Amino acid sequence: MGFNAENLDPRPANHTDSRFMSKRTDRDLYEVIKGGGRAVGKATLMPPWGGNLNDTQIKSLILYLRRLCMCKHE
Ligand code: HEM
Repeated sequence: MGFNAENLDPRPANHTDSRFMSKRTDRDLYEVIKGGGRAVGKATLMPPWGGNLNDTQIKSLILYLRRLCMCKHE
């Protein structure tokens, strides 16, 4: 986690938690990364990245998240 993660409420998602992450489809992950928490009814503390990251970059982040959790959508 980043240096300020302890101070966030809610805390950022734990991407190594495979039980949690396997409930998310790749589409869910795409939407929250692109539009931020606000776009999916979650905390606005999760910033939107769609202005900074293109489609390919977001997809490669999703692959990275799947490596962190060692899981896929069940
Ligand atoms: C590019 C880097 C990032 C990625 C790929 C990412 C990815 C995600 C994903 C996939 C979720 C949703 C988890 C779920 O399905 O419930 C999430 C939630 C969250 N993220 Fe990020 N995140 C990033 C950067 C950040 C940063 C920089 C912050 C804060 C400064 C942050 C704060 C949060 C918080 C607080 C939540 C929880 C939202 C809630 O449960 O209501 N994230 N993040």
